[in-house]
Amino acid sequence: MVIFKLPLSILLLFFLFNIFLCSAEILYIPVTKDATTLQYITEVGQRTPLVPIKLLVHLGGRSLWVDCDKGYKSSTYKSAVCNSTQCSYSKSLYCDDCRFKPQLQPGCNNNTCFIWGDNPLIDWFDDSAEVDEDVLAIGSTPGVRFTWPRFIFGCMLSRNMVRSFAKGVTGVAGFGRESPISIPNQLALDPKFTRKFGICLSSSTKSRGVIYIGSGPYYVYNPKRIDISNDLLYTKLIANNKRGFVASEEYYIQVLSIRIAGQDVPLNKTLLFINKKEGDGGTMISTAKPFTILHTSIYDAFKTTFIKALSKNVSLVEPPTKQFDVCFSSKNIRSTNVGPDVPVIDIVLHKPSAFWKIYGTNSVVQVSKDVVCLAFVGQDQTREPSIVIGGHQLEENLLVFDLPRKKIGFSSSLKLQQTSCSKYDNTIIA
Ligand SMILES: *[C@@H]1O[C@H](CO)[C@@H](O)[C@H](O)[C@H]1NC(C)=O
Ligand SMILES: *[C@@H]1O[C@H](CO)[C@@H](O)[C@H](O)[C@H]1NC(C)=O
Ligand SMILES: *[C@@H]1O[C@H](CO)[C@@H](O)[C@H](O)[C@H]1NC(C)=O
Ligand SMILES: *[C@@H]1O[C@H](CO)[C@@H](O)[C@H](O)[C@H]1NC(C)=O
Repeated sequence: MVIFKLPLSILLLFFLFNIFLCSAEILYIPVTKDATTLQYITEVGQRTPLVPIKLLVHLGGRSLWVDCDKGYKSSTYKSAVCNSTQCSYSKSLYCDDCRFKPQLQPGCNNNTCFIWGDNPLIDWFDDSAEVDEDVLAIGSTPGVRFTWPRFIFGCMLSRNMVRSFAKGVTGVAGFGRESPISIPNQLALDPKFTRKFGICLSSSTKSRGVIYIGSGPYYVYNPKRIDISNDLLYTKLIANNKRGFVASEEYYIQVLSIRIAGQDVPLNKTLLFINKKEGDGGTMISTAKPFTILHTSIYDAFKTTFIKALSKNVSLVEPPTKQFDVCFSSKNIRSTNVGPDVPVIDIVLHKPSAFWKIYGTNSVVQVSKDVVCLAFVGQDQTREPSIVIGGHQLEENLLVFDLPRKKIGFSSSLKLQQTSCSKYDNTIIA
């Protein structure tokens, strides 16, 4: 008994110690911002020999999928045979033979299973993504580059699905909540990682931001190292499985109100809650929208409150672009380390004392030398989330997605700490 107990406890200790050691690992996935489309893009290596693949970062995406129509070549590619564990693991929809091509090729094989592919730029879903496995190399300096020998992904041949991508992008990197094959969930099959990740998008098209995979700490250098995952404001992550015909993998949060310079924006509060029957309404976070979208009725009240809060010596100007409709001269606006000194926006989360502060650097955008515009878009969102928090508002903020604990953490602007998302890489001397 004693002889048996001793090695077991040592083994257990070793095991715990090992998990402890391993889970300290962080994978850094670099993210660039495309200057033309403002899309956030990451590059991974896939196949044998490895080919660099550019993918659109899609926070609420179900899987990693690639366009297989442009000559997919790999000696390690393997399609998932019907009823295999890969098919059930990826929650495949159906099994089929190759029907859309005259001969078999990656993306069109006999006796394989299929899943949904999603393109958030055009809000398009297609159920013809073949379930496949291949080598995936992901991550970069200063972290590890992680090679996954059999990463499950979707292989698409549908021309409709590759519309609107930035130049060179051939697929989607999905970071969805529950799909077992989304990037955070699939990587977390390795005990080195956890189902926790942080998104830190760069506001510059010249320096890269990062997605941290793992439980933290998430460092940036200033040049001293700081853990930006400390002191976050956490709120509950809300699932919305009602919206659309495909169960949503998107991330929702509860917004209770919006304040501008301390003033409540008068809103129809019903719009801020997800409609339990239809799944519309509520607040979603999206890396696929460049600017935050507000339901027209929210937007109208929002812009009126913002204009009222602007200092009297700031004059409104005719918008030089169709994209925005509130623009003003920046001549009398002081610039601060968090951007133009305009009224601060508080996104009030689950309780009045829990709010995410949005400063000038994230609330307005410079469109010409002396003109800035309110970087929010009003849109008919009747069948959609009432608020979709987009890229410009997320930039230079860390957002932490803690999937096991179902919560999301916000840092507010890293510029308050005199740093930025691109400083994750201490090997670049700025
Ligand atoms: C695969 O599973 C489907 C149901 O999911 C079943 O109808 C079919 O017979 C199975 N095929 C084989 C070869 O086991
Ligand atoms: C694949 O399936 C199609 C249709 O079921 C069939 O006509 C074809 O011969 C099959 N090809 C191979 C190589 O098995
Ligand atoms: C508030 O919005 C809801 C949902 O769109 C709508 O049904 C309701 O009539 C609105 N209330 C007011 C006072 O406008
Ligand atoms: C504009 O008004 C603000 C306060 O309302 C003041 O702080 C600022 O100095 C003024 N700027 C100029 C150029 O007059």
